[in-house]
Amino acid sequence: LNRAAFPDGFIFGTAASAYQVEGMALEGGRGPSIWDAFVKVPGTIPNNATADVSVDEYHHYKEDVDIMKKFNFDAYRFSISWSRIFPNGTGEINWEGVDYYDRLIDYLILQGITPYVNLYHYDLPLALHEEYLGWLSPKIVDAFANYADFCFERFGDRVKNWFTFNEPRVVSALGYDNGLHAPGRCTDCKVGGNSTTEPYVVTHHIILSHAAAVKRYREKYQVDQKGKIGIILDFVWYEPHTNSANDEAAAQRARDFHIGWFLHPLTYGYYPKSIQEIVKDRLPKFTVDQVKMVKGSYDYVGVNDYTAYYMKDNGVTNPKPVSYQDDWHVEFKYDRDGIPIGPRANSYWLYIVPWGMYKVVTYVKENYGDPIIILAENGMDQPGNVTLPEGLRDTERINYYKSYITELKRAIDDGASVIGYFAWSLLDNFEWRIGYTSRFGLVYVDFKTNIRYPKESAYWFKNMLKREKN
Ligand code: GCO
Repeated sequence: LNRAAFPDGFIFGTAASAYQVEGMALEGGRGPSIWDAFVKVPGTIPNNATADVSVDEYHHYKEDVDIMKKFNFDAYRFSISWSRIFPNGTGEINWEGVDYYDRLIDYLILQGITPYVNLYHYDLPLALHEEYLGWLSPKIVDAFANYADFCFERFGDRVKNWFTFNEPRVVSALGYDNGLHAPGRCTDCKVGGNSTTEPYVVTHHIILSHAAAVKRYREKYQVDQKGKIGIILDFVWYEPHTNSANDEAAAQRARDFHIGWFLHPLTYGYYPKSIQEIVKDRLPKFTVDQVKMVKGSYDYVGVNDYTAYYMKDNGVTNPKPVSYQDDWHVEFKYDRDGIPIGPRANSYWLYIVPWGMYKVVTYVKENYGDPIIILAENGMDQPGNVTLPEGLRDTERINYYKSYITELKRAIDDGASVIGYFAWSLLDNFEWRIGYTSRFGLVYVDFKTNIRYPKESAYWFKNMLKREKN
């Protein structure tokens, strides 16, 4: 397996997000996001950890870009913290924050690393949540489009690859259904909410926000700047547990609710039929004008792929939501207890299933008109408490990457239009609700000193990605 096995121009990079790596959460003029408030509720994150400092990429960005270069990566996918630019979500601009992203982008380009910039990775400005409940209000659509517009105008001379959102399903399902992510709403949790409707409303507003931002880009910037824009969705492969028609149907429902919930409207202008039938009146509707704006609103699809699950038919629990044990949303609960589909990594949700990669990519190709795909995240974690030097010997991670990238290549060889691949992540970092108890990095970070130590997997990539000298 090496770079030469991939199509011409194929890029390899690593991915990260602002809140997870930047640090300086309460400094540099940044306004708080919903995550800053969420992590401060005692008992929410293991050891009450926060990402106030995290791995401090804000101050280490040159070092991190140098590592990317040294290990032969072509690209870096990072996200912009909305509240670092607009501390209140709208209005006043924090130029110190703008300068930071200018410096990061300039240094990436100087070192020959292509920036792939994502505008939203879970960190809604807290002010917008306090003012009108953020994603639950239609007001958010203009606020997001204005923020996006500012970024296109300011950074678009150098940034040619944009994403609007990362994993919006996670926002809707974990933020507003099971309460595991900020803002922590769910019917039974401390923050309140109504999980039979809120996730659908949130998704609807995110789709409209995405489409409004893409419209701005296409109308005002794309011709001159000659960039591309898309969205990143979280994919999971759902394999029927048996070949019974019921399990088959259950797996398809799961794909509809997980993948189709977003990709269907973005491609076809409406939610999947199964969602319409099951959710009924709780599902918001697009107006005729909105359909025009939403349909076809991407140049490429970002696919995040980590795992796969068996699905078996548990029936439809409607309208009462299931009680939430895992990352699943209101209508179904899949049964994976006792039937793991592969060995588990550290995260409870991450089962290692390389062939799921092939299935996911092929499914997108076949069901969504063979779009251009960027494999935007893939990786595995180890426990947070591994120490040096053991923490550098990550043979399992090397095997994970080798097997998943081989499956990706198989999908490409079978015709999928994949143009790039991003490993999650360059550095160990703040892993949301499990804090620092998980390490996804190719580079070990001592969280006390923030010193970086490349793991064996980084050297594996370095070798795989070496360029032919000519
Ligand atoms: C997500 C995000 C990342 C995670 C990664 C590992 O999936 O929630 O895109 O921020 O850290 O996926 O869980």
